[in-house]
Amino acid sequence: MSEICILGTGTWGTALGRMLANTGHDVVMWSAIEKEIDSLSSTSVHPNLPGMVIPQQIRFTKSIEEACVNREVIIFAVPSVFVRSTASTASPYIPDDQIIVDVGKGIETDTLLTLSEVIKDELQKDGTHQDIKLVALSGPTHAEEVALDMPTLIVSACTDLEVAEKIQDIFSNTCMRVYTNIDVKGVELCGALKNIIALASGISAGLGYGDNVKAALITRGMAEITRLGMAMGCVDQTFAGLSGMGDLIVTATSVHSRNNRAGYLIGQGKKPDEAVKEVGMVVEGINALLAAMKLSKQYGVELPIISAVDAVINHNADPAKTVATLMQREKKTELTKSALDINFESSLLRNTRRAGMKRVITYGTFDLLHYGHINLLRRAKALGDYLIVVVSSDEFNWNEKHKKTYFTYEQRKQLLEAIRYVDLVIPEENWQQKRSDMHEYHVDTFVMGDDWKGKFDFLKEEGVEVVYLPRTPEISTSQIKHDLYDANAVDGESKTSHEEINTDPQ
Ligand code: CTP
Repeated sequence: MSEICILGTGTWGTALGRMLANTGHDVVMWSAIEKEIDSLSSTSVHPNLPGMVIPQQIRFTKSIEEACVNREVIIFAVPSVFVRSTASTASPYIPDDQIIVDVGKGIETDTLLTLSEVIKDELQKDGTHQDIKLVALSGPTHAEEVALDMPTLIVSACTDLEVAEKIQDIFSNTCMRVYTNIDVKGVELCGALKNIIALASGISAGLGYGDNVKAALITRGMAEITRLGMAMGCVDQTFAGLSGMGDLIVTATSVHSRNNRAGYLIGQGKKPDEAVKEVGMVVEGINALLAAMKLSKQYGVELPIISAVDAVINHNADPAKTVATLMQREKKTELTKSALDINFESSLLRNTRRAGMKRVITYGTFDLLHYGHINLLRRAKALGDYLIVVVSSDEFNWNEKHKKTYFTYEQRKQLLEAIRYVDLVIPEENWQQKRSDMHEYHVDTFVMGDDWKGKFDFLKEEGVEVVYLPRTPEISTSQIKHDLYDANAVDGESKTSHEEINTDPQ
C-alpha cells in the first residue's frame, strides 16, 4: 500500500484516484478550484464521469500542504497550462527526493519543456529538489474506460529504471498493465503531439472524409512525430509503443477524444474557439501547436500535418483547401536512405544506450591508414565506450573536396572495421550531416584532430562535448603520398604517376 497524492481533480486524475483507492492505496486529492473539492466530497460523483462512483476512502482537500506532505508518490494531473504554477505552489511541501508522476500531456510554449521537465525546472529553480525523481505516465488511456475498470495498458517512463518499476508496481492491477521505458522525452513528446494529429483526424471527419484518410493521418502523423523525436535524441521504439502509436490511434479514432471532437466541429465549419467552448474541456492539441511549430523550426524537421493544423487553427486557413494542399505536396518516398541505414545502426546503438555507455564519434578520410590515425582512434575510444567513425564516401571526396583517395570507401571502411578501437563505421555524404548524426547516433562526444580546432564548436549546440586531440606529428596521408612520390622520382625506375598516387592536401 502506498500513500498517494493527486493534484488535480479532472477526469483523468479522478479516474486514477478511484483505481488506486480501489486497489488498496491511500489516496488524497487536491484541486485549486475549491468548489470542485466541495462537490466531489459531497456527491462522490464527477460531473464529466457520471457513471463512476468515487470510493469513500478517497480524501479531498483544499490544502496543498496537507495533500503533499508524507506521500510516497505525488501525481500531477492538472492541465498543461497549470503545471508550472501548481509545482510552484506545492514546492515548499515537496521533499527533495520525492517521486513525482506527471499524467498530463503537453509542451510549455515559451520554454519548449515537456511537463515533467517543467515540474523539475520549477522545483529546482531555487537550488532545492536536486534528487527529485520524475516519471511520465502515458498511453492510450481514456479516463472514461479506466473509470469502468476496462482493460488498459500504459507506460511508466523514468530515466531511473528502478523508479519506473516502482510506479509500474503501484499502478499494476487486473485492469491496468504497465510497461516501463527510460525514454521520458520520447514518451512525453508523443503524448503532446498526438493530440494535434487527433485534431487533424477530427477535422477530416468533420469535412465528411472517411476511414482512408484517418488511417493515413495516423500513419503519416506518427512518421512526422518520429522524425522530430529522432532529431531530438529520443528512442525510435518509443514511437511504435503504447505512448506513441497506441495513444495516437486511440486519440485520433475514439469518441471520447476532445481533440478529435474539437477537430470535427472545426471541420464542420465552427471557429476554433467556438469548438473549444462546445467541447467544454481543455483541448490540449490546440495548446501544443505553437510549441510543435517552434520545435519543427529549431530542429529543422518538416511537420506537414501539424503545420496544416496550425494553419487552420491559428491562421484561419480553410480546412478543405488545406487538405487539398497536403495532397498535392511534392512526391515523396516512405523510406529514405538514411532511415534504412539508421534503422540498422540504431539497433546496435540501442544496446549501448541502455547500458548507459558513452558514445564517441569522429570524422575523416582515413586514406592509407597510418599510425597517426591509429593514435587518434585509440584516444577517441578512451573518451567513451563506443566509437563511431564516419568516413567520407568516394562521392563526397570527389564532389565536395575534389579529392580522389587511394583506397575506395569500402576498402577504407574494411580497414577501419578491423581496428579494435572502432565499433561502427558509417559514410559521410555531405557537410550538413554532422548535426543530425549527433542525434541519430545518440552521440555524447565529438572528436577531431586539432588541425580542426574550433571548426566544429557549433556542435556543442546539439548538446555534445567537442574535443580536439593533438595530431601525431610528422605523419599524414598527404605526407606519405609525397614521400612515395619523391622516392619514386629519385629512384627513377618506377612508372607510378603523380596522378595515380594523388597528393591532394585535405
Ligand atoms: N590525424 C591525427 N594525426 C595525424 C594525422 C591525422 O591525429 N598525424 C587525425 C586528423 O586530425 C583527423 C583524423 O586523424 O581527426 C583523420 O584524418 P585524415 O584527414 O583522414 O588524415 P590525414 O593523415 O590528416 O590526411 P591528409 O593528409 O589527407 O589531410
